[in-house]
Amino acid sequence: MTSQRAADVSPFIAMDVLERANELEDVVHLEVGEPDFEPPARVAETAIESIQAGNTGYTASRGKPALRRAISAYYDRTYGVNVDPGRIVVTPGSSPGLLLAMAAIVDPGDTVALTDPHYACYPNFVRTVGGRVETIPLRPENAFKPDIGDFEAALEASTRALVLNSPANPTGAVMDGSTLAALSRTASRTDTTIISDEIYHGLSYGVDDHTILEYTDDAFVLDGFSKRFGMTGWRLGWLVVPPAFVDAVNRLMQNLLICAPNFVQDAGVAALDSPASQLDEVRDRYRTRRDLLVDAVTDWGLDLGYTPQGAYYLLVDVSDLPGETLEIADLFLEEAGVAVTPGVDFGEHASDYLRFSYATDIESITEAVDRLERLLERTDVV
Ligand SMILES: Cc1ncc(COP(=O)(O)O)c(C=O)c1O
Repeated sequence: MTSQRAADVSPFIAMDVLERANELEDVVHLEVGEPDFEPPARVAETAIESIQAGNTGYTASRGKPALRRAISAYYDRTYGVNVDPGRIVVTPGSSPGLLLAMAAIVDPGDTVALTDPHYACYPNFVRTVGGRVETIPLRPENAFKPDIGDFEAALEASTRALVLNSPANPTGAVMDGSTLAALSRTASRTDTTIISDEIYHGLSYGVDDHTILEYTDDAFVLDGFSKRFGMTGWRLGWLVVPPAFVDAVNRLMQNLLICAPNFVQDAGVAALDSPASQLDEVRDRYRTRRDLLVDAVTDWGLDLGYTPQGAYYLLVDVSDLPGETLEIADLFLEEAGVAVTPGVDFGEHASDYLRFSYATDIESITEAVDRLERLLERTDVV
């Protein structure tokens, strides 16, 4: 019999949609959150050279010193923040880093606060370590940015940890520095540990990204190579750990994961060494796609109500369309051949929404827009 914890883990609906969409022919995929570009060429070359040089055994659990130094240098040049490499743990993707952070902070029965909407997988990490999920609403009228009052009220109530995510999945909202500073002050006053998921940093359009580390050392930062370097399948990430947790996280890493793949860590150094112009180019491409999709959604008469400033997602209110969002997503897939993700994956407050991802080429996005336009005209629903 499976454990109660395993039974409580819900499926990742975006993945279910992808599976169904893959069974159909001629589908445009706007449901996936996977970059459509290759990492800089030097990344693959470095990995191959590293394998050939025999770097295929275990490494130190917390990661190779050269990569941890390169990550520390990245914080210095990107945000002007000094992060001791001793606080950096290299992980096989950022997801295992989140598991380590949760395991280090949360005791069974402890409460972990998530925003709602939130990344679909967060509640399942909390449940896996025996924690209880509490949600704090992000309101569309605030462009899905935190209202500090809501957070203060929630964190007073003995919350153990707070997960933040900016730029955010599924909204694309970006928190400004003063919001992060205020949240960090509230967390410190209420003895709440912040876990800041910064995986979409670098993919913000016209606004600056701020790391929580600009405002406090007492926060976990989750980050990695999947999104801004297009390295999802390489499985490489890192965790910046508050000084008081370094020892515990190292022991957890040694026991649960041993280490990130050896030669992939060398590839990570090459990615961090790649010219900034490479990321600038990616960012420009995403910005063009975002603008196209935002204009299309507005033209359809659907309510966007905010401009997503980062990541590669739009959360679109479809409550004016007839039917439940799951049915609307089905209609889009079956009748127009366009796959999108129903908002229910991302929390109660997202249940009237669909998430559109623009992590795909402009031709596919244009095709999806045309198809949906035709469907909406035909069904005369907006
Ligand atoms: C907000 C967020 N955090 C973490 C992850 C996991 O990324 P990784 O590939 O580094 O495990 C994702 C992946 O989609 C994500 O959207």
